[in-house]
Amino acid sequence: MTYQNYSLKQLQQIDAAHHLHPFTDHKEMRETGSRIITHANGPFIYDSEGTEILDGMAGLWCVNVGYGRDELADAAYAQMKELPYYNSFFKCSTPTPVLLAKKLAEIAPKHINQVFYGSSGSEANDTALRLVRHYWVLEGRPEKNRIISRKMGYHGSTIAGASLGGMDLMHKQLGGAVPNIVHVMMPYAYELALPGESDHDFGLRAAKAVEDAILEAGADKVAAFIGEPVMGAGGVKIPPMSYWPEVQRICRKYDVLLMLDEVITGYGRTGEWFAAQAFDVEPDTITTAKALTSGYQPLSALLVGDRIAATLVEKGGEFYHGYTYAGHPVACAVALKNLEIIEREGLVERVRNDTGPYFARALQERLGGHDLVGEVRSFGLMGAIEIVKDKATKERFLPAGSAAVLVRDHAVAQGMMLRATGDTMILSPPLIWTRETIDIGCDRIARALDLAEADLHKR
Ligand SMILES: Cc1ncc(COP(=O)(O)O)c(C=O)c1O
Repeated sequence: MTYQNYSLKQLQQIDAAHHLHPFTDHKEMRETGSRIITHANGPFIYDSEGTEILDGMAGLWCVNVGYGRDELADAAYAQMKELPYYNSFFKCSTPTPVLLAKKLAEIAPKHINQVFYGSSGSEANDTALRLVRHYWVLEGRPEKNRIISRKMGYHGSTIAGASLGGMDLMHKQLGGAVPNIVHVMMPYAYELALPGESDHDFGLRAAKAVEDAILEAGADKVAAFIGEPVMGAGGVKIPPMSYWPEVQRICRKYDVLLMLDEVITGYGRTGEWFAAQAFDVEPDTITTAKALTSGYQPLSALLVGDRIAATLVEKGGEFYHGYTYAGHPVACAVALKNLEIIEREGLVERVRNDTGPYFARALQERLGGHDLVGEVRSFGLMGAIEIVKDKATKERFLPAGSAAVLVRDHAVAQGMMLRATGDTMILSPPLIWTRETIDIGCDRIARALDLAEADLHKR
């Protein structure tokens, strides 16, 4: 029996009775019911009532090539028939992860040539954490095991991912985080820059927080610094261009490894294959997932730089770590085809030269002047809209986050899916968006802002 035999109401009832959702208040959801998305095509998703919604979030920052790609389904089908699964433990391999690793080494920054697979971004960050600590043990410096991360960073939802991340609400529910991880300030100029401080200077000051944390611990105790090049789930926080080169300089000065979490920014979103290239830094690890398969299969790839890889190989000894589905042949077949599509359609260049700059202008010109909008910002095809009560003072509506949720709900009703995080609306559309799609999206958001403003005035 397929889902078409069920009414929306029935599906919602079954969902409520049996399905625990991620990041959800289940009491609240049982009162409202879930929205059931049944199919999708190109940039649009459709719910069980047939409502068409423009997907401004590419699923969850992942469907970069858009929905309905037969080629990806065909790649999965062919691989499933030939070899649905075999592991990459015990000196075995299958062809597709091998070929994908070669492809990833080609598109990654030059000094990165190795790949460790998993199924999710969280898993890849667990691998990254264990790998950098293992590296320093192999180097004979086991005391160098502290990791510096950032407040409001998001690195996943496993215990290691949540510990690396800087989300207080997640930490509170952990009941004990992975030890020796500290969090420093984020490069979020809109709220944290001092009056009169230039963007450049703010970037250097935010980077200095990393140096201060290294000095406080002692450089001989610090293994690595980890950060998202552009913070995603924390609110599309775009650092000043001075930030990453300065963080890299500091890491090199104190012999601290640099780990980038590109689970969102990887595979074209910033107008480069990786944001490391956009910010011109050479990290020791790059965590990737999501758009590696455009979300058509669960797959992550931790890209490992030559420095760490050389030590692993030269010193030898087993790295006691790995997942059953590491290098899953079907997921890797889909990833290979997905990267081929991104390349063939020139999606990375399109974001860099056309849709990225157009998106920035459209957000600014069509939404930036709205009374509810304190700031719009974007980097490639990631965008944010700050919702404020007062543009001049940056005062927010109370309770915190409520106005953004109102805008989001109106936007969805207008046929536009975007996300509210705190008082920030965030956007991360599929890379297939054209100028025309950007215009449609902005029109719908503008209408949502007007409707939300009217509601807020009635309060
Ligand atoms: C930057 C970043 N790292 C890690 C993760 C975790 O990935 P996953 O949900 O696939 O475990 C996410 C998910 O949104 C992310 O945005």
